[in-house]
Amino acid sequence: MSDPDRHAAILGVQWGDEGKGKMVDVLTESFDVVVRFQGGANAGHTVRIGHEEYILHLVPSGILHPGKICVIGNGVVVDPPGVLKEVEDLEARGIRVEGRLWLSDRAHIVLPHHKALDRAAEERAGGGKIGTTLRGIGPCYADKAARNGIRLAELTDRDRFAHRLRPILEEKNRILRLIYGAPELPFDEIVEEYSAFGRRLRPMVREASALLEGFDRRGLRILFEGAQGALLDVDMGTYPYVTSSNTGLGGIATGTGFSPRRIGRVWGVVKAYTTRVGSGPFPTELPGAIGEDLRRRGREFGATTGRPRRCGWLDLVALRHTVRVCDVDSIILTKVDVLDGFDQVSYAVAYRMRGGEATEFPTVLNEKDAVEPVYRTLPGWRCSTRGLRSDGEFPPELRAYIEAIAEGVGRPVSMVSVGGERSECVRLDPPVGVREGA
Ligand code: GDP
Ligand code: IMO
Ligand code: MG
Repeated sequence: MSDPDRHAAILGVQWGDEGKGKMVDVLTESFDVVVRFQGGANAGHTVRIGHEEYILHLVPSGILHPGKICVIGNGVVVDPPGVLKEVEDLEARGIRVEGRLWLSDRAHIVLPHHKALDRAAEERAGGGKIGTTLRGIGPCYADKAARNGIRLAELTDRDRFAHRLRPILEEKNRILRLIYGAPELPFDEIVEEYSAFGRRLRPMVREASALLEGFDRRGLRILFEGAQGALLDVDMGTYPYVTSSNTGLGGIATGTGFSPRRIGRVWGVVKAYTTRVGSGPFPTELPGAIGEDLRRRGREFGATTGRPRRCGWLDLVALRHTVRVCDVDSIILTKVDVLDGFDQVSYAVAYRMRGGEATEFPTVLNEKDAVEPVYRTLPGWRCSTRGLRSDGEFPPELRAYIEAIAEGVGRPVSMVSVGGERSECVRLDPPVGVREGA
């Protein structure tokens, strides 16, 4: 019998930046292979090891553990110069990547016209913009679905790449010029530049679903690393203020070719409060002093774009929705230390809106909707949690907050992060909460 928990997933279940990178780094020691399955260089996953800080955009966070294998699945949209630069930077910092990182030949590539169209559409939208990361993500996924995309397998063959790109770029250039009044992009230069990237990437490109199948057969343990968060999922999130991929559990099936039936465990990463970058509804946002306090203490500035993150209280209405659609087994609660010293901590259990009280996360939530969260408030803990390494040392107020989250969301909390560094982590044994054996 194989171990049913041999393969696992770590998913963000808020609006991203929950601390997935750190938790993947912490848990990688129990796995052999780490796989990204969706998103692209819009992700920014921060890992701190001692005084060193690494921000990963496309390369799985498992790369920082010597000897572990990393895979970028077919569901990821790969920015060729971006991934090459990331590999180069890691190698320059003494992290050996060669022979440990594999990219799916089916992964679509982000091209200069995707970035130009992302920027042009955002500029055109003015106040109605999504607030994207301008990494070309939406246009690239749109082209994939419209069958106008180009995959890594084609980039590594210069003639084929040029043949595919010519009609696509002609059309995109017309759109850039006529619709947006933006400059056209030069075909010859892009072919030269990008086929050179293709030549450099070629040794890393593989048919990745077969690769993963082989790892599974050899008994290796695979960890799937989510990017973004479930509230940014194109189907389950706060559409249209979302990213363009399936960030939840379902994304693994289509984004790797690996059977989700073999994944035994799903960790949902939850920040102890809520943040969001970019536009869109955010019912528990705190635009005043408390939000500013959270941003300052939590250093809530985007790892990819540097934008200040919007901050607010934890939202159990949203979390109940996302842990259900991601089938989360247990919660990893991060950035608990950021709440150290708060007199009180609040969390939303319902929304007052449209004349009633909603406990289910609404499908349509407009930014201008008057949503008034119904809060419960608990006393804060007045001590520092940074140095804590066992749950026996937790102040009772923190314990009560964790219990309220587990009960309110209906999933146990199995781990708590009390600082950005690798070692600042407490496993809860047994997990706090309602489900047995998680
Ligand atoms: P990701 O996109 O989910 O990987 O998260 P980001 O890396 O974008 O943002 C999380 C930020 O919080 C990073 O700067 C981390 O170093 C930091 N971080 C992660 N866990 C903790 C924690 O428990 N406490 C504190 N204070 N910082 C944390
Ligand atoms: P990680 O993996 C937080 C947000 C953008 C914008 C929306 C669409 O670090 O958690 P896109 O460029 O994807 O078309 O932008 O999604 N967004 C993120 N917010 N963390 C991320 O990734 C994000 N990736 C995209 O700010 O609101
Ligand atoms: Mg991030």
